[in-house]
Amino acid sequence: MLVLGIESSCDETGVALYDTERGLLAHQLHTQMAMHAEYGGVVPELASRDHIRRLVPLTRGCLEEANVQYADIDAVAFTQGPGLGGALLAGSSYANALAFSLNKPVIPVHHLEGHLLSPLLAEQQPEFPFIALLVSGGHSQFMAVRGIGDYTLLGESVDDAAGEAFDKTAKLLGLPYPGGAKLSQLAKLGSPDAFQFPRPMLHSDDLQMSFSGLKTAVLTAVQKVREEHNGEIPEQTRNDICRAFQDAVVDVLVAKAHKALLDTGFRTLVVAGGVGANWKLREALGRLKVQPKGKGRLKPAAETIDVYFPPMEYCTDNGAMIAFAGAMRLQNQQEAGKFNVKPRWPLTDIVRR
Ligand code: KG4
Ligand code: ZN
Repeated sequence: MLVLGIESSCDETGVALYDTERGLLAHQLHTQMAMHAEYGGVVPELASRDHIRRLVPLTRGCLEEANVQYADIDAVAFTQGPGLGGALLAGSSYANALAFSLNKPVIPVHHLEGHLLSPLLAEQQPEFPFIALLVSGGHSQFMAVRGIGDYTLLGESVDDAAGEAFDKTAKLLGLPYPGGAKLSQLAKLGSPDAFQFPRPMLHSDDLQMSFSGLKTAVLTAVQKVREEHNGEIPEQTRNDICRAFQDAVVDVLVAKAHKALLDTGFRTLVVAGGVGANWKLREALGRLKVQPKGKGRLKPAAETIDVYFPPMEYCTDNGAMIAFAGAMRLQNQQEAGKFNVKPRWPLTDIVRR
């Protein structure tokens, strides 16, 4: 079965073709990053208009790349939500119109399910059950994944998402939008001891997280630095702040990942979403072992875990993960979609009961 996937939830137009027998045949992406950069953030109206411009050429590009015709497509999957209303409508209208003209089913996909399943696009795939750490610009969540469509929310950020905290902190430091990736590059040049930022909710006995206080701590530090340097942030100081901020976020994510593994007994961790591209997070989770709680004085041996990251190109928004999630839904005989979008849509709504 050949599934065309359409992603248009925010500032990336992604189109891909996934074949249930042959795997991913083509995927193409257009990022609007440069267009939004001069406004310092995503301008929803511009995003919607650009999706409309890109969808047809990207689809044609995928068909050419895979050497298939429109008529070969068996179903069209699209991101139904969550995301920007207008941007979602552009993808939804296109997907529905195309599916209608081809007389093929249309499959609405939850954007986060796309991210969650994206590690299954890698050559080495995780086995169920696993803990998924979803860390994107809009979400920071721990999910227990027992199979396709079988997800339990274990904990999430009570305020800013991790990616959002990266982007807002980058903005505070005067880095161009979207600053998350840039901030993490500069963190490589920073000293580990120059600044210390709080690790919010690190010891809360649950899997909830909070990142907005951390951002405020950075703001206070930046204001002090600017006062001391005639309104400027010296380059090395900026790098040091990047380092301290990233260390704090990664410490929280790693500690919570440890707790999620310990609580569930799962020994496989899958990281998905844009922040999954972060080198420090990859490094720290790659070293993570689970330390079971001992009863007596003897400390049980630490247990190794399997950690999976989607290939870099599937970490951030893309059409491949939507085509793949759509194909999985199609195989599980999910009913045909309706012509609507869901800008706010908790992932737990799609859980099989
Ligand atoms: O999953 P994604 O592409 O889009 C959403 O669904 O939100 O994630 C984008 C987020 C942005 O906040 C971006 O700053 C962050 O992922 N991001 C990073 C890195 N690369 C992208 N954050 C930290 N380190 C990175 N290397
Ligand atoms: Zn995303």
